[in-house]
Amino acid sequence: MPEKLFLELSELKVDAPKLFGIPTGTKLDEMFWTIEEKNGNFIKKPIGGIPYLSVINITGTPDTGKSLLAEQFAIVQAERDYKVLFVSVESPVNFLYTSLKQKSAYLKIDFKKVEKNIIVIDASQNDELRENPKALIETMAYAIKEKKITNVIIDSITGLYEHKEMTARQIIRIFFNFLKKWRQTGVFVSQKRSSQDATSPEAAGGLAVAHIVDGTIVMNKKLIETKWEINLYGLPIGSIFRTIRIDGCRLTGHDTKNWVFEITEGGTIDILTPIDDFIKREV
Ligand SMILES: Nc1ncnc2c1ncn2[C@@H]1O[C@H](COP(=O)(O)OP(=O)(O)OP(=O)(O)O)[C@@H](O)[C@H]1O
Ligand SMILES: [Mg+2]
Repeated sequence: MPEKLFLELSELKVDAPKLFGIPTGTKLDEMFWTIEEKNGNFIKKPIGGIPYLSVINITGTPDTGKSLLAEQFAIVQAERDYKVLFVSVESPVNFLYTSLKQKSAYLKIDFKKVEKNIIVIDASQNDELRENPKALIETMAYAIKEKKITNVIIDSITGLYEHKEMTARQIIRIFFNFLKKWRQTGVFVSQKRSSQDATSPEAAGGLAVAHIVDGTIVMNKKLIETKWEINLYGLPIGSIFRTIRIDGCRLTGHDTKNWVFEITEGGTIDILTPIDDFIKREV
């Protein structure tokens, strides 16, 4: 029978994913929600993580904490005995090992579980995997099947179209469709170009990533330099002020505020308060 050209909405019911959260181990888990009716009123009910089967893009300028957040997500999933595929495109994976070990110790998570449940593909040292999406996809498919993986992180997707940004849209679409086909919850890290507004969802390849994925999280940092900033933020000169916000998500309701966060001494993300509350705090 030929493939159907149209469907009645009701026919989509069987394949409609359930709406629930996949925890990141950060306050982001309270920031995606559904609404529920209670006595005639609608109330927000946090789903407890990034939406199941979504592909979320984390973008930001260098050193804003994108990899830290992606790694924390991986560790938290591994602790819950879910398998995570970590595709490292930027840094050789021996660095990843040390970084995940340190974070697990800080978060008091059994590193044995992390070692067992995180599966790594090192594309940083392999030109074929980095330059040929088909080769990487085949390797990923093999790992997903063999290891029963449910979550995929690509750090960074930008590294897969370095020097050929016109192809960004195609390449992101290939990996996005791949994750959908294999029913994975995914995180793409994407880097910004220096000309791009640090607080926007735009990244290398323009708005391609943000347009294709299900949601974008923007991370930013600001160096406190002026008297005005010292007064406004109540922070000493030379300190770093970090913020994170959900720029958009097509699958669920979500918080839209810009939140202040810290990078802990263990290299984890600690989201504190919305920026307006932070500014009004007693110093
Ligand atoms: N254990 C730690 N203790 C304190 N700060 C840390 C620790 N680990 C990392 N950091 C800080 O966090 C910053 C952000 O790191 P991260 O690697 O997540 O950046 P990124 O957004 O992925 O950057 P890039 O785009 O360059 O990959 C680092 O530059 C470092 O200053
Ligand atoms: Mg990084």
